[in-house]
Amino acid sequence: MQINGKWTSGLLIALLVSVLAISAIADEDGLPFVGDATNGTRLYQIHCAVCHGFDGLGKGAALATLKVKPANHRNGSLMNARDNKMLFDVIQLGCQGTGCKGAMPKFTKLSKLDTWDIIAYLRSLHMSLAVFFPKLDQYLVKQYTIGKIGKAEFKEGQLERLEDALKKIDPAELTQTVYTLFRANRRKPSPELVPQQPRQLAKLQKENKIGYVFFMTLKGPRGRKVPIGIGLNPGYAIVKLVTTLTDPGLRGEYNSRFEKYIGQGQRGKKPDFNFSKDKVGKIFDKAVTRIYMLATEAANAYEFDERERSWADGTF
Ligand code: HEC
Repeated sequence: MQINGKWTSGLLIALLVSVLAISAIADEDGLPFVGDATNGTRLYQIHCAVCHGFDGLGKGAALATLKVKPANHRNGSLMNARDNKMLFDVIQLGCQGTGCKGAMPKFTKLSKLDTWDIIAYLRSLHMSLAVFFPKLDQYLVKQYTIGKIGKAEFKEGQLERLEDALKKIDPAELTQTVYTLFRANRRKPSPELVPQQPRQLAKLQKENKIGYVFFMTLKGPRGRKVPIGIGLNPGYAIVKLVTTLTDPGLRGEYNSRFEKYIGQGQRGKKPDFNFSKDKVGKIFDKAVTRIYMLATEAANAYEFDERERSWADGTF
């Protein structure tokens, strides 16, 4: 073996690069953040698909034998509410360790690295919040039931506005998961899910709020249920509206329909989304009005909650 100058410096660089690469993907406990989704796909098909399905929708072959339905890993509303550490724990410890209700088994035999590879794959299945607001670095998640929170006149006002705009309301529609996103100018490698604890919440600043995200179901033509994600800025204008459907044809068709609603909507104003003359277009106008109304009233409920929480420190 010949060791000349070139060789050793090459070796040094290779060593340095590998050290950097390892440190870049490891957190303080030595856990890597970035897994290999290709290996994750393979492992998911072996270990998880029997319950969660090969497509991740939660309808695997074992579904009929389970009391609690396996999670739908394509549901952004569910999956964004779990940070990577929570996913790591539920895979390694199962429901016994993490307190979820169902029969999620533990996979103690999966190595840490393999677990992170599966997490990388899980993350590829659902739409992340960064799709809506790429600059987010902190976020909150909480479920609100419109008409159940706040002072009597606030609740009545919410329900009146909804009834006025939507006529018939299904009680299930009133419960929505609100994601509130912040940009605190901190150099965070991945967005931080801020827990619903008073001390942590008090650190958030209203000025840093960049918007809201909701994952909802829109009633499309022929009664088709279209899963969508919608991003609103703090003034309640629509920043992004996209379907999370995987079929590329349908996705393209719906997303091009949604384009005309981007930039529309304003806080305190009744939405006026009457852009279409054709029958199908009118169905979309109505359906988008519906999800927009529900989303903004859920955001109002969040803001009410925040004002109540922070009346003393005045941060919101
Ligand atoms: C025997 C069936 C079964 C298998 C196999 C299985 N799961 Fe699950 N999983 C479940 C059930 C049931 C739930 C729902 C638990 C609940 O909602 O209380 C669940 C929930 C989850 C959740 C959501 C937990 C939460 O916080 O709500 C994740 C993430 C998950 N599984 C990942 C996986 C991964 C990754 C694998 C493969 C390594 C896997 N599961 C294998 C049945 C299974």
